[in-house]
Amino acid sequence: MAEKTVRIAIVGFGTVGSGVAKIILEDADYIAAKTGVRLQLAKVVDVDTKTKRKVALPKGVLTDDLDSVLNDKTIDIGIELIGGTKAAKEIQLKMLAAGKNVVTANKALLAKYGSELFAVAHKADKCIAFEASCAGGIPIISAMRTGLAANKIQGIYGIVNGTCNYILSNMSKKNMPFAEALKQAQEKGYAEADPTLDINGADTAHKLAILASMAFGYEITAEDISVEGIENIDIADIQYGKEMGYTLKLLAIGQRFNGGRIFLRVHPSFISSESALARVDGPFNAVNVFGHAVGGTLFYGRGAGMMPTASAVVADIIETAMGNSGRLFKYLKLEPRKKIGKYIGKIDQLASRFYIKLKVIDKPGVFAQIGNILAKNQISISGILQHEDINAKGIVPAIVITHMTEQKKITKALAAMSKLAAVKEKPVCIRIVDIPEDKD
Ligand code: HSE
Repeated sequence: MAEKTVRIAIVGFGTVGSGVAKIILEDADYIAAKTGVRLQLAKVVDVDTKTKRKVALPKGVLTDDLDSVLNDKTIDIGIELIGGTKAAKEIQLKMLAAGKNVVTANKALLAKYGSELFAVAHKADKCIAFEASCAGGIPIISAMRTGLAANKIQGIYGIVNGTCNYILSNMSKKNMPFAEALKQAQEKGYAEADPTLDINGADTAHKLAILASMAFGYEITAEDISVEGIENIDIADIQYGKEMGYTLKLLAIGQRFNGGRIFLRVHPSFISSESALARVDGPFNAVNVFGHAVGGTLFYGRGAGMMPTASAVVADIIETAMGNSGRLFKYLKLEPRKKIGKYIGKIDQLASRFYIKLKVIDKPGVFAQIGNILAKNQISISGILQHEDINAKGIVPAIVITHMTEQKKITKALAAMSKLAAVKEKPVCIRIVDIPEDKD
């Protein structure tokens, strides 16, 4: 079959843009031999044309003029990699209007304006491909779209933010302070331009919105998701949890229960240290997807960084060039999607097990008072831990792990415990998530 040449413009010459340019410039022959698609880098657009990047572009490719792409009819695919929502949305709309298919890694944009952009693309008979928007190099979008197409998805449990996972792994394994781990994640190119979006859980929520929309077939935005980040995590809690057999992860969770209710949440979660997700460390991501036919599946790989994310972008470019993205975009009903409306569940209606830490005065009867409050609220204790007061400060951490209980009972018990004279700090409460296991 004759080779097909595809001309590409990258908008945004940052970490991922550089990775995409590198693959196109270095591996075009290999990709052409393998796929029949020859990638040609026509333009790279960035407001900053001066700073030296990790990749040297051929003369005349780098420009700050977006119109030079929009007006060039020989450019087939526009890659939006600037991130953010405002300018990126305009750029994508302009590229669609100019007759180009769009490839993007922009999860914040799709989580907010996905439906609107998809509608415009459908109308223009173009497509938007977004494999790189979730979990970096892991082909999770492709799996959700085609590989798992036969399934009613029941649950998604994902570690989808490399920065948070890098921070939590280093806090857990190397006792590294939060700030140092974050700095390293930024230096390695895992973090967002604004790393607040990583650590406050927003980036994870953006990815969950995209994955859950595909899994459950509704229009879901980040506003439908209950979100808590890792910014207040104390290294001591990670270590106490570890002693009790748990590993702390920032999880994106989407569950569909009988009756069709859907619960979507992002929060620090203690999971069994024996579970597969507990062994996912550093910038790696993993997504456990459960379907009614397939059972449990696990997707694993590098979730952030220049080349893994570029790998997903280039996969989209090739799929778009082959016409596969366009066909799937039409047939797999990304648009219009139903509104989730009354089917969305609230996190406080979800029963859970909980890790509770109290800083208490080390004197007789304190544990009895705590036990009393839990008993009064019908909360059953599943495990307890107290370290000796080796520094003779008179205050010790008392840890309680509960059996399954309702959020409203825990809220009442925590309020009552806070009022005890022996409790010296605001209690820490972290959900324990029991990820389903698919075993023979
Ligand atoms: N900042 C993101 C992360 C990059 O750390 O996972 C990939 O979306």
